[in-house]
Amino acid sequence: MNKPIFVLNGPNLNLLGVRKPEIYGSTTLSDIESTVRQRAQELGLGIEFMQSNHEGTLVDEIQRARSEAASIIINPAAFTHYSVAIHDALEAAELPVVEVHLSNVHRREEFRHRSFVSLQAETVIAGAGAFGYIMALEYLAQR
Ligand code: DQA
Repeated sequence: MNKPIFVLNGPNLNLLGVRKPEIYGSTTLSDIESTVRQRAQELGLGIEFMQSNHEGTLVDEIQRARSEAASIIINPAAFTHYSVAIHDALEAAELPVVEVHLSNVHRREEFRHRSFVSLQAETVIAGAGAFGYIMALEYLAQR
């Protein structure tokens, strides 16, 4: 069995559907998980899907990915913009990384224009809403 793709989600993404729907849409994280799982199954790919509000938990998961995952799809949420720890964990993981943002962070506040994660990402998808996760999956399936 091939290693799964880890799909990691950062802080406040558990509030999708109720949090600023005008920016993040009305799709919940559990809707996203179902869609990603369904498409992954069609593509013959395994998925591990998780969300955490805690930076250390995400770092632990990225460290686990190093030996257990084929690649990583990550929406680091607010940690994107300042987490050296997540940057370093992704660097150490030595895996293909796709960074996903539901919103187009470049059209928003200036503090969202900077990403510590992009330095470690092969691909960055922003502004495609929940479909960005499917785009990330398709990219990794093609790769
Ligand atoms: C986000 C964008 C981040 O700036 C923000 O902190 C989030 C979500 C997105 O998916 O658009 O929580 O990563």
